[in-house]
Amino acid sequence: MLHEIYAFGSGPSREPHINLGPPSAVCRLVDMGHSVVGVEVSEQALREFFAEHSLPYHEEPVPEISGAKKFQSTSGNVSLYCCSIYDLSSSIVGKFDGVWDRGALVAVNPCDRERYVSLMITLMEKNSSYLLVTVSYDPNKHKGPPFYVPESEIKSLFGNHCEIKCLQKVDDFSDRHRQWGLDYFLEVLYVLKFVA
Ligand SMILES: C[S@@+](CC[C@H](N)C(=O)[O-])C[C@H]1O[C@@H](n2cnc3c(N)ncnc32)[C@H](O)[C@@H]1O
Repeated sequence: MLHEIYAFGSGPSREPHINLGPPSAVCRLVDMGHSVVGVEVSEQALREFFAEHSLPYHEEPVPEISGAKKFQSTSGNVSLYCCSIYDLSSSIVGKFDGVWDRGALVAVNPCDRERYVSLMITLMEKNSSYLLVTVSYDPNKHKGPPFYVPESEIKSLFGNHCEIKCLQKVDDFSDRHRQWGLDYFLEVLYVLKFVA
C-alpha cells in the first residue's frame, strides 16, 4: 500500500489513510507536508502508533459519533479516528486530495464493498487520487481475507467516478500463502483519478 504514494499531490494536502499501515509511511507523508487522517477500530493500535514514533498527542471525543475518539498529534498533522470507518462522513472529516487504501478494501467483507466504496467516494475531492492496493490469487483455493477483488469489480465499484489505471502487479508470494494452499499471490496496485 505504499509505493508511489510519496509522489502524490504537488504540495501540502490532506491525505486520509484508511486504517493504519506501516507507521513510518505516515510519518514520511507528514514530513512531505501532508496532513494525514486515519481511521482504525483498535484503540491499542492507535496508541502504539504514537508510542512507536514518540509523537506527542492528545485525545478527545468526537461529538458526532458516540464512543469515538480522535487522537491528534500535538503538531496537528496526524489525526486518527478510533471508530468504525462507517461512522465517518465528509461533514466530520472533510474531503481529501488523496487516499491510500492498503489492507482496507481487501479486508472489507464482500457484502459490504458497495457500502464502503460509496462512503469513500463521498470523501474524495474532484481530481483527487486514490491509491488502491489489492491482492490477486486463485479464490478457489483461498477464501480470504484478504479478499480477492477482481479488476472487473473495481471497475464496477469505482468506474462511474474515476479513471482507473493498474500501475503494477508485484509477486508477493510467501510461505504464509503456500500454507493457505496458494501457488501464487500478487500485490496489485491501482491509481484511481476522481474525475467527477
Ligand atoms: C488488514 S488490516 C490492514 C492494516 C493496515 N492498513 C496495513 O496495511 O497494515 C485491517 C485493519 O482494519 C481495521 N478495521 C477493520 N474493520 C474496520 C472498520 N470498520 N473501521 C475501521 N477500521 C477497521 C482492523 O482493526 C485492522 O487493523
